[in-house]
Amino acid sequence: MIIAMDGPAGAGKSTVARITAQKLGFLYIDTGAMYRALTLKAMELNIGVNDTAALIEMARTASIDLVNNAQGVLTVFLDGKDVSAPIRHPRITKLVSDIAKIKGVRVIMLELQRKLGLARDSVLDGRDIGTVVFPDADRKFYIDADFNERARRRYKELKEAGQDITLQDIENDLRNRDNIDSTRECAPLKKADDAIFIDTTNLAIEEVVNKVLGYING
Ligand code: DC
Repeated sequence: MIIAMDGPAGAGKSTVARITAQKLGFLYIDTGAMYRALTLKAMELNIGVNDTAALIEMARTASIDLVNNAQGVLTVFLDGKDVSAPIRHPRITKLVSDIAKIKGVRVIMLELQRKLGLARDSVLDGRDIGTVVFPDADRKFYIDADFNERARRRYKELKEAGQDITLQDIENDLRNRDNIDSTRECAPLKKADDAIFIDTTNLAIEEVVNKVLGYING
């Protein structure tokens, strides 16, 4: 079974996808983490976001692995190295949308995402899972929340993780990424026609998970 979970950053989708996968015993595939790992590699190799050919070649030769432990916690490996922490750095967050908008990069990630998803029952979270990666997914969800609430949640999460960041930084980042992710030519962020829309603005994580499980089991 394939469960697609799309939506903008900060809507709660990754947490809901991870808990849902854990409860169902499915694999959790965080596709944003894949684009983040590529962005880290580009930074390490000093490849600029406009050097499309070099970025596509880099994506072709990168080895990205996602490993779930029994608690559903995800470890992201890039070329055999655990990069789970550095891919969440604000510098990566700032650049990732510019790399994720490159068609040649997306084609390579799409293949990898399909391969991972088809190997086991999976929950995939991202921006284009229900529209492009798995248009025939068994269940599709589009998870959203008010802009201010998304910014507030992201701010709290990063502050708790010890990052030196202001709410204004977060708002600027979210606005910028929402804009790039939803206006790009290739696989933009949008709700699939047959996706179930969940507004999480006034819902706790458990309430969202329960709703999702209700739709999956119903
Ligand atoms: O979910 P996230 O914030 O970790 O995703 C990081 C970026 O990756 C996001 O700004 C857009 C891009 N992305 C994408 O283009 N397609 C996906 N399926 C997942 C993420």
